[in-house]
Amino acid sequence: MRVSINQVKEMKQRGEKIAMLTAYDYATAKMVDEVGVPLILVGDSLGMVVLGYESTIPVTLEEMLHHTKAVVRGTKQAMVVGDMPFMTYHISTEQALTNAARFIQEAGAQAVKLEGGINVADKVQKIVECGIPVMGHIGLTPQSIHQFGGFKIQGKTPEAAARLLDDARALEAAGAFSVVMETVPTPLAALITREISIPTIGIGAGIGCDGQVQVINDILGSFTDFVPKHAKQYAKLASIMSNAIGEYYEEVKAGKFPTEANSFSMDESALAGLTK
Ligand code: KIV
Repeated sequence: MRVSINQVKEMKQRGEKIAMLTAYDYATAKMVDEVGVPLILVGDSLGMVVLGYESTIPVTLEEMLHHTKAVVRGTKQAMVVGDMPFMTYHISTEQALTNAARFIQEAGAQAVKLEGGINVADKVQKIVECGIPVMGHIGLTPQSIHQFGGFKIQGKTPEAAARLLDDARALEAAGAFSVVMETVPTPLAALITREISIPTIGIGAGIGCDGQVQVINDILGSFTDFVPKHAKQYAKLASIMSNAIGEYYEEVKAGKFPTEANSFSMDESALAGLTK
């Protein structure tokens, strides 16, 4: 059985910290699932760390569905949350419902995530009413990067802090089962965590959140374009991979690969008479 939204909410009630990681492919999702991480996000960060876009804005619904299917195939226990990309839920409730349904029905996800607070609460409510669990996302919402004018810390003034608290409350009232808080000062994130009944999942929001989410490429050190301040590198995979690729390249050039161990033999009498 996969992790349910009730189990996630119960973790908050028990004071049990909730770990969430992104994954975008079958093999990585399988590892995350086998470790026991309860929540896997197929984030639209896909666009930056896998597809090489400059932001998450160009990511399409079809790309997200394609990768969500792969993650679902690689997992057994984790709840898979599909991230709804830019402008796939803003235009109308009908559009939001149709696209949220595709993540569940076509891709096999168990929940969707969308960015925004009060401004998307009506869409969240309708999606939840149709039986699709929704994770909210407030603070620095990368799909609005042009509106913010850059990757800036959110909620630092009294007005901005109050707006974020209102956003969190609106998502809770709309029926979201949890809310991601991105790049929010630790004291504000802790206050919001205390003020709402649903779990908060922080990224760059400090230790006071109910859970944490990270982009897997950041914690594995496999994405080298930049390392966000909120990320800790638990490995440096990029240099391990680069060394291995270099060794392969050198061995092929030097005629050292493949060896007998990587090759297949046959009774060479079968070749008699094939050449003149
Ligand atoms: O797209 C993503 O990976 C996200 C996380 C950073 C929360 O939205």
